[in-house]
Parts: sequence; structure tokens; C-alpha cells
Amino acid sequence: MSSDMVTALILAAGAGTRMKSDKPKVVHKILDIPMIQLVIDAAEEAGADRILTIVGHKQEQVRAVLGPDVECVHQPEQKGTADAVIVAKDALADSTGYLLVMCGDMPLLRPETLRQLIEVCRDRSMAVLTATVDNPSGYGRIVRDETGSIAAIVEDKDASPAQLAINEINTGIYCFALDGLFDRLAKIGDDNAQGEYYLTDMVKVCRQENEVVIGVQLNEAEEAHGVNSRAQLAQAGILLQTRINERLMEQGVSIVAPSMTWISPDCVIESDVEVLPNTTIAKGSTIASGSIIGPNSRVYASQVGENCSIEESIVLSSSMGDRCVVGPYSYIRPDVELGDDCKVGASVEVKKSVVGDGSKIPHLSYVGDATLGKKVNIGAGTITCNYDGEKKSATFVDDGAFIGSDTMLVAPVNIGKNAITAAGSAISDDVPDDSLALGRARQTNKEGWVAQRREGK
Ligand code: UD1
Ligand code: CA
Repeated sequence: MSSDMVTALILAAGAGTRMKSDKPKVVHKILDIPMIQLVIDAAEEAGADRILTIVGHKQEQVRAVLGPDVECVHQPEQKGTADAVIVAKDALADSTGYLLVMCGDMPLLRPETLRQLIEVCRDRSMAVLTATVDNPSGYGRIVRDETGSIAAIVEDKDASPAQLAINEINTGIYCFALDGLFDRLAKIGDDNAQGEYYLTDMVKVCRQENEVVIGVQLNEAEEAHGVNSRAQLAQAGILLQTRINERLMEQGVSIVAPSMTWISPDCVIESDVEVLPNTTIAKGSTIASGSIIGPNSRVYASQVGENCSIEESIVLSSSMGDRCVVGPYSYIRPDVELGDDCKVGASVEVKKSVVGDGSKIPHLSYVGDATLGKKVNIGAGTITCNYDGEKKSATFVDDGAFIGSDTMLVAPVNIGKNAITAAGSAISDDVPDDSLALGRARQTNKEGWVAQRREGK
């Protein structure tokens, strides 16, 4: 790879009318990642030193998705792909080397392919990424000369019948030398079927200057899959899912039903993890070796240690150490930290809580705004009463405490070390260390009462 600077320019000003959406096309998500982010990630992985995005239609929404660190240039009117590059002229004043032009709606391009295109463009003015497809309709056709270099790109709407029969198409991805680029762009006119400034006309301008335009052909046409409709969005999701699952299986992850497993590209799954059917792992989650996730589970923005099991459960923005057991049917809401060897068993909801090593919440509980020490046992049906209708209050349960079944922990409340609460208690006062707390009415038995009623007495 040359040491020349590479700037990626991502065209994303278009409306994407065929999506029939209030949202701009490029913010639609694929495996939970906005399409444009996938394009930016590919540019970054390809080694782009700088990334600039051209925004237009509903630009606020695109900028919001990209965040403040991504440079955007506004194209006020969509006058064509050449115009979209021209509006970046000032922003590119300090860039040298090469400009990689990409489309915000092509989320499957591989960084290796982009690198190859940049490499081919070295010491040239222009290189184009092309693909051979079964159905070229709608795309610009690649016309090659007798030497094999590119003679022209003809848009579908401007093509002759002979040109329409060509099945090598323009992917819309190019690399240009920045030196002289804007002088060449200024020579492009809008005398064509759509009255637009076509970036594809750069081929003509380069040829007039006796520059050879090289085409790089994709081996795998699916990389050029563009998203213009909801059906193509779903198809892109399937293609990316297949690609990710195949990579993970290659790396030693077991995926029982790949077509029913959705793992985002930003997740890290270690070898010997087993993913069972109908499971989603998203938003930068990490799963350490030996863990079993699923079936029917969703892990979102969470860190899972080694040898954990998450069965039929949801885990959101939380973390757990090693050897934790979650589920079946449990719901771990954001900001939960489980230590090592914890259990959040069947039908348990936990929210914004810290659970110390070896602590267990085995059945039917709600634990919110709580801090549990080590080796705490929370009996079945226990709940923290953390909300009084106005504010949330905290519950502390110290190491070794044993909370009897069906205890109501009325927060704010502290349970001391090794303390025990009697089953069915409503605990609203702090419990000292090593103490038994009873917070319920004493039972009375009325002997013979049933027999007396039966005998009508
Ligand atoms: C373009 C190519 C065509 C190629 C196809 C591949 C041209 C003239 N044609 O056609 O050869 O086969 O892509 O998908 O370039 N955009 C802007 N501002 C504009 C116009 C477009 O940002 O003023 C963006 C769009 O949002 C889109 C991309 O550029 O992401 C491509 O534009 P589009 O109008 O979809 O071009 P196509 O007609 O598909
Ligand atoms: Ca398009």
C-alpha cells in the first residue's frame, strides 16, 4: 500500500424514495447497524485517513446517526453524483493523494476490495469498481475498449440497445487522484436523459486527456448489493448475516441454526461459544469462551464472561463475570453488573443493580436499584419495592444474607451481613448483621374450625 493519503467520500444525499420511509435511506439498519455506518467502517478498515459524508435529504437524521465526529458536507440540491463530489471541493482543499468515492447505500463492500481499487489507481487519475451481473438493468454499463481499459460508462437511460446488452455494470465506487480532480469535474455537463451531472462522465474527461481508466472487477457480485427498497434491505441483512456467521464458525463458534441467528458485525464472540436458535447478539456485545447463548435470547450491548448460560432471556446493556446462569425467561435491564458464579434464574427481572460473586436470585423476583454482596440468596418471589410513586430508592444486602421467599424489601433499606429475613416479610427497617428479621403477622390456628362449619355449628 502506498503512503499516499486516502480520503473517503460517501455519497448519501439522496432521498431513497423507493424505501417509502420518513427516514433517509442510509439510516435504516442492517443487523442493528445503520447502513451508512457499515460503509464508513469499510472505508476505515480499508485504511482511509479521512472520511467525509455528503448529506442532503433529511440531513439532520443522517448527522444524528453519524455522531459529531464524522465530517459532513451539505449538498443543497441533488444535481447528480458529480455535483455531490463538487460540493466537497472546499472541504477537500487540505486533502492530497486519492479520493475514494462510495455510496451510502452499499453496505456489503469489503475493505480488501476497496484497498485493491486504491492500489490500482496509484499513479492514475481514475479507477472504477465494476461487477458482472445477470440482470444489469438500472445500472450504468461498462464499455471497454480493445485494450480492455474503460472507454465509457453509459447510464441505463442513455444506453443504446447494444449497450443495454452489456452485463458488466458500474458499482458506483471509484478512486480518483485528487490532483486535477476538480478541474476535470468542472468539464462535466448535464446534457443527458436525466439532466444530471454524472460522475460517470469522468471517464470521458480522463480519456480526452489520454488517461487510461482501469476497471477492477468484483469477484463476488454480492459486495455491490445496493439498497433501494425494503426487499433489498432485507436481502442485505441476510447476506451480511451469512457472512458474519460463516466467519464466526470459521473462528470456532458453534451456531446451530445460522439462518436464525443474528449477530452484529461489531460483536466479539470467542471460540467455543455455542449460539442456539433464534438468538440476537447486538451492539458491541462480547461473549467469552464456553458460554451458551439461546435459544430465543437477545443480548444487546452487554459483556458476558466465560462459561455462562443465557437461556430464553433478554440481557440489555449489562455485564456478567464467569459461570453465570441466566434464565429461562429472565429480563436483565440496563446497568446490571453480575459478578462470577451468579444466578438470575427463572422469570426474574433485574435492573440497575450490582450482584456480588456467588449470589443467586433463582426464581420469580424483581430486583431494582439494589446492591447485593457476595453469596447472597434471594428467595423465590422476593421483590425490591424501589419506587414509591415519586422516587426510586436503593436496597443494600450485605454478604451472606439470606432473604426468605416472598420478602418485600421496602427501599431504602439495608440488610446486614449474614442476616436472614423470614419468608413473607415486609422489611422496611434496616436489619443488623447476623440477625433474623420477621416482618409479618403471627399465624394463629383455629383448631376444629372447618369441622365445626361442616357440621353447621
Ligand atoms: C449511479 C451511477 C451508475 C451506477 C449506480 C450504481 C451515476 C450517474 N450513475 O446510478 O452508473 O451503476 O450508481 O448504484 O453516477 N447522490 C448524492 N447526490 C446527488 C445524486 C446522488 O449524494 O446529487 C448519492 C445518492 O444518495 C446515492 C448515490 O449518490 O447514494 C448514487 O446516486 P443515484 O442517483 O442512486 O445513482 P444511480 O442512478 O443509482
Ligand atoms: Ca442507486
